Amino acid sequence: MKIKNICCIGAGYVGGPTMAVIAQKCPHIKVTVVDINEARIAAWNDKDLSKLPVFEPGLDDIVKGARDRNLFFSTDVDKAIDEAEMIFISVNTPTKTYGKGKGMAADLKYIELCARQIARVSKTDKIVVEKSTLPVRTASAIKSILDNTGNHVQFQILSNPEFLAEGTAVPDLLNPDRVLIGGDTTPEGTKAVNALVEVYENWVPKAQILTTNVWSSELSKLTANAFLAQRVSSINAMSELCEKTGADVDEVAKAIGMDSRIGSKFLKASVGFGGSCFQKDILNLVYIAKSYGLNKVADYWEQVIIMNDHQKQRFSDNIVNTLYNTVSGKKITFLGWAFKKDTNDTRESAAIKVADNLLSEQANISVFDPKVVGERVYADLDYLKTRTTEENRRLLNVCKDPYQACNESHAIAVLTEWDEFVDYDWENIYKSMKKPAFVFDGRGILNQKTLEKIGFVYYKIGSGID
Ligand code: NAD
Ligand code: UDX
Repeated sequence: MKIKNICCIGAGYVGGPTMAVIAQKCPHIKVTVVDINEARIAAWNDKDLSKLPVFEPGLDDIVKGARDRNLFFSTDVDKAIDEAEMIFISVNTPTKTYGKGKGMAADLKYIELCARQIARVSKTDKIVVEKSTLPVRTASAIKSILDNTGNHVQFQILSNPEFLAEGTAVPDLLNPDRVLIGGDTTPEGTKAVNALVEVYENWVPKAQILTTNVWSSELSKLTANAFLAQRVSSINAMSELCEKTGADVDEVAKAIGMDSRIGSKFLKASVGFGGSCFQKDILNLVYIAKSYGLNKVADYWEQVIIMNDHQKQRFSDNIVNTLYNTVSGKKITFLGWAFKKDTNDTRESAAIKVADNLLSEQANISVFDPKVVGERVYADLDYLKTRTTEENRRLLNVCKDPYQACNESHAIAVLTEWDEFVDYDWENIYKSMKKPAFVFDGRGILNQKTLEKIGFVYYKIGSGID
């Protein structure tokens, strides 16, 4: 079966970039990305490419080349479903905030809404592809909804989880380590799997396209994120021990990373991992394990989250302790608010928790992030409901200029590893600050020797203060 029309429901951080790359690499396929969020679709269609709703290096060029040729963004979900032979579901699957499984299970209401809409609209056979990260066995729920429409349309459900990381979405999509496709082993299932394999074969070598059964594919995605997050929590656990013992976590990471069995990636100690995926997916894994009565398995993975929460807490505690046990009324500058560099995404960013802790100690915070807008910062804090909207605005100020953010500050905390922070004029920053001038480098990116020579008291996560 040759695919000519693809629809993707959900124009977010995954749907947008993924479909832009499919459209670029498959000019013979019409790709329509749909969303119920009108503002988001308008932004994807904006002539000014700097207004795209997702900031990813290289994405603007890809969108520019394919948009209105074979890549379309629209709010007409029904029409796009009707026209497509293949429908990707790429909607959000956040942690449930209510009812059974609150705070742990994935909230599948958006997925179910999509399935019901596909069931209602479809007049011809469809291949439905799970692109969202889903609990293992979700495909059976989707299938049950789709198979009960009574209009004799045949549906095949595939699992095709996305492994891109934000900030590197474009290179990750152009050169994926692997593409994973799970499908039924029936003849119709195999046909559907092959149809999706053919789409990817337009640019991904066949050896890197793995096909499995649906359940293995669904579970592999949660497993991959759990393993990656576990490495970050493992090195972060060692960072605390390094600070007590005089070891330097970057040196330890280098030494262990050169062991080819361990490998060097995902060993950078930090103020804690953030992002929309790691915490959500591990909590979901923990919930699934518990629901099968596998309590030891659940406890093992939950520890990754406990360690991450601890890392954020101890970073803010350390700032308070170092600043003579009080930050009340003191200006503290945050360099970075995004959960990692090269993205405007702030979901679960460590900066949010660290700021919340310091605001509870009555600190005054000034934030500078190269890509995150002020409203986003306030929305992240307001969401916590720790204090009123007015209080958040009174205590925290978002600056458009990093030097202004640092002016008269008692301490700078580096929360995101943006490259530009390294090249700032640190001499001038030092001069403008209160003394002693502290830097708390939660990402270990600044040059310790240079900063100490200028006069800063420099704390790096995983080596402490010299
Ligand atoms: P997102 O919140 O950025 O985008 C989801 C979009 O879906 C939103 O724009 C929302 O309006 C839209 N939507 C929700 N319900 C809809 C409906 N019924 N009809 C039409 N549109 C609807 O989320 P995201 O970061 O793109 O993540 C999507 C999925 O991909 C999640 O399951 C996530 O776990 C997974 N994932 C994310 C990443 C990542 O880096 N962000 C990476 C891999 C996998
Ligand atoms: C992650 C997975 O990497 C990706 O495969 C999946 O599709 C989605 O979830 P993402 O969350 O976008 O991607 O970014 P990632 O690079 O994994 O970083 C996650 C968090 O861990 C960030 O806050 C990052 O700063 C932190 N991190 C990562 C570290 O603290 N140290 C590291 O060594 C690596």
